[in-house]
Amino acid sequence: MKRVTVDLPGRPYDVVVGPGALGEVAALLADRRRCAVVSQAAVAPHAAAICGALTDTELFLIDDGENAKSLATVDDLCRRLAEWGLLRGDAVIALGGGVVGDIVGFAAAVYHRGVDVVQAPTSLLAMVDSAIGGKTGVNLPEGKNLVGAFHQPIGVLADIDTLTTLPEREYRAGLGEVAKYALMGDDALAAFLRERADGVLSRDTEVVTEVVARCAALKAEVVAADPEERSGLRATLNYGHTFAHALETTSDFALVHGEAVALGLVFAGELGRALERIDATEAAAHRDLVASLGLPVTVPTGARADALLAVMRRDKKASGGLTFVLRGPNGLEAVEDPPAPALEHAFRAVGVDVH
Ligand SMILES: NC(=O)c1ccc[n+]([C@@H]2O[C@H](COP(=O)([O-])OP(=O)(O)OC[C@H]3O[C@@H](n4cnc5c(N)ncnc54)[C@H](O)[C@@H]3O)[C@@H](O)[C@H]2O)c1
Repeated sequence: MKRVTVDLPGRPYDVVVGPGALGEVAALLADRRRCAVVSQAAVAPHAAAICGALTDTELFLIDDGENAKSLATVDDLCRRLAEWGLLRGDAVIALGGGVVGDIVGFAAAVYHRGVDVVQAPTSLLAMVDSAIGGKTGVNLPEGKNLVGAFHQPIGVLADIDTLTTLPEREYRAGLGEVAKYALMGDDALAAFLRERADGVLSRDTEVVTEVVARCAALKAEVVAADPEERSGLRATLNYGHTFAHALETTSDFALVHGEAVALGLVFAGELGRALERIDATEAAAHRDLVASLGLPVTVPTGARADALLAVMRRDKKASGGLTFVLRGPNGLEAVEDPPAPALEHAFRAVGVDVH
């Protein structure tokens, strides 16, 4: 079992990573009067490990998918919690992927003006990203994640055993975020992923525990330094994401988020190279790592540069231009409005139609 501390002043918490991590729930919550476990049907079998370790628990199921991330779900969940009699000193456990974590984290932030929440991520993406850092929220019809709150969990339990039931495409998508951490500049993680690619792809428990713990440590470090995204540091976690978001939108979500991030990383490497911020070897390392994890390095046919640029500009309406997080001699930095030839090079390198 590995333990990573998110060192927030006055309220540090641990991310416990490894097979059987859900068993640690007793150490966190044994003194609570009652605990609500919130999950989804596909994940619910893993709830037994939690319910068996605590005395008074109840399992609440919520719907699956991005559409469930709504105020209506939060309303319904809070009403069910109230009906069951959950009080301020009790606790809630979010058992699931990022959708469960975001909904339940937000419900916990507002129910009784805030009850303690334990994040128990069961998707690779949630383990390395969404369960850590206290960002919670739901969507509005007008846009994703428009309503939310910062509500730090009191602990994160990343039980690697739960990944055995995660569908393959979801697992691969999580690897897109893993690749992001490596390519943000953690050369040791990149080397580990290259050397142990077989173990990563076959979900070898020891290998995946190592990878998740390393990524969790990187996220924890950024969160501790910039808990509420005020300094701009947390924005560096968006490496590869400007292009990824545009690709998701223009492809009508034919690509899942992690696949789009993988392509965004290849794009960011090539853009950095065209701007002479990194050399050709480093740009190639982006492509090679993404490919070795079974993720796409060229976009689906039909992706057009003008459509992608329009979406990327809309994303950044406030600054009126294009902003990319890119690697360079001083590490990760925001780069505004790169010149057209550099953009064209990066588009072509991932198979985007430039004319
Ligand atoms: N709060 C943050 O900081 C943050 C960061 C990144 C992403 N997110 C959010 O996370 C969400 C995406 O999360 P996700 O990729 O985990 O998707 P998800 O929660 O929808 O999970 C993907 C699918 O896998 C299923 N699943 C999850 N774990 C499983 C398991 N162990 N066995 C079987 N099935 C399992 C789910 O039921 C779902 O059908 C998005 O809504 C995104 O906005 C939030």
